[in-house]
Formats: sequence, C-alpha cells, structure tokens
Amino acid sequence: MLIRREGEDDTEVIRAITAAAFARPGAAGHAPPEVALVDELRASKAWIPALSLVVTGSGGDVTGHVLCTRGHVGDAPVLALGPLAVRPDRQRSGVGSALMHAVLGAGDALGEPLVALLGDPGYYGRFGFRLASEYQIYPPVAGWQPHFQVRLLTAYRPSVRGTFRYAEPFDRV
Ligand SMILES: CC(C)(COP(=O)(O)OP(=O)(O)OC[C@H]1O[C@@H](n2cnc3c(N)ncnc32)[C@H](O)[C@@H]1OP(=O)(O)O)[C@@H](O)C(=O)NCCC(=O)NCCS
Repeated sequence: MLIRREGEDDTEVIRAITAAAFARPGAAGHAPPEVALVDELRASKAWIPALSLVVTGSGGDVTGHVLCTRGHVGDAPVLALGPLAVRPDRQRSGVGSALMHAVLGAGDALGEPLVALLGDPGYYGRFGFRLASEYQIYPPVAGWQPHFQVRLLTAYRPSVRGTFRYAEPFDRV
C-alpha cells in the first residue's frame, strides 16, 4: 500500500469507490449522497488539498480515499473527517486503518487542533477518537452525541469547546 495526496486524475475513481462503499441495498442506479458530498466539498472553500488522500495497491490502482475538510468548534478552526471509503473487495485488509493513520498524522503535522467525525465508536476508538462530549464539544444535532467523536492532536487546547459546525456541503446530505 502507498498513500499519497489526491491528484487531478483521481476524481473519477474516488467517485466510483465512494459509490461502491456507500451503496445501499435496494438503491441500485442511484448514487449515494456521499458521492455528491465529496464533489461539493472539493469545490468549496472548506477543501484542504493536503488532506485528501488516496491509497494505491500493488498494481497502482486506487483502493481507498479519505479526506478532512475545514470545520469549526465555535469560532475555532478544526478538521472534519469523512467520508472515508474503501473499495468493497479490499475492505478488512487494513486499507481503512492505513488511511486513518495517514490523515491523522498529516493533520497533526499541519498544526490542526483536532479531528471530529460522526461514526461508530467501536471502529474509531482504535485511532484515538473519544466521545466529543468528554471535551465539552457538541454536535450540531443533539441526537448525534453517542456517535460524535473527536481525536485530539498536538495543537489542541481545552479552550476549543462548544458546538461543532461542518462545512456547508454537509448540510445537504
Ligand atoms: C469503514 C471502512 C472505511 C473500514 O475500512 P477497512 O479497510 O475495511 O478497515 P480495516 O481493514 O482497516 O479495519 C477493519 C476493521 O474495521 C472494523 N470495521 C469496519 N467497519 C466498521 C464499522 N462500521 N463499525 C465497527 N467496526 C468496523 C472491522 O470489523 C475490522 O475490525 P477487526 O479488524 O477487529 O475485525 C470500510 O469498511 C468502508 O469503506 N465502509 C463503507 C463506508 C463507510 O461506512 N465509511 C465510514 C463512515 S464515513
């Protein structure tokens, strides 16, 4: 596995992987909303080119994608992680974990304070995510609290607390 930044030629394969990873049963022929979300994020001011990463397999084919975009806790700039997508035939072979470690390291190297996401604590706990409420950080929708997590990075300060806000394209998903 090799991990690198998304390049200009990767847009289509990222769409295909996102569509396959998030496909819902019974929704054949309809692209899942995560596909448009990634495209809209890429066109938005929340996009951070250094934090959209792809993983390639031994044949050079892209098998997974992760991105972080600009979010805020109160007025403080932070990172929002997702969507994270691994090609279904390559899932459960460490691709998702490799992408997570890479993007968290990159975010830390950029001096970002924390990464927020909505997901299963059973999966993301292994990457150091904890419930955001432990740090007085709250999701934009109160009902998300049991799944809303943050991973603190080196530049974190406890003064970063309050309600989290995703970039605007997330509002349409
Ligand atoms: C979630 C996803 C990115 C994980 O990628 P992956 O390459 O399969 O992950 P890895 O091989 O690194 O890790 C596999 C481990 O994750 C666990 N896992 C995968 N998805 C999980 C989930 N939703 N909840 C809990 N655990 C999960 C597996 O059980 C496995 O655990 P184990 O090693 O203890 O058996 C991938 O399954 C995927 O693309 N899913 C569809 C899209 C999605 O749900 N994305 C995340 C939300 S944005």
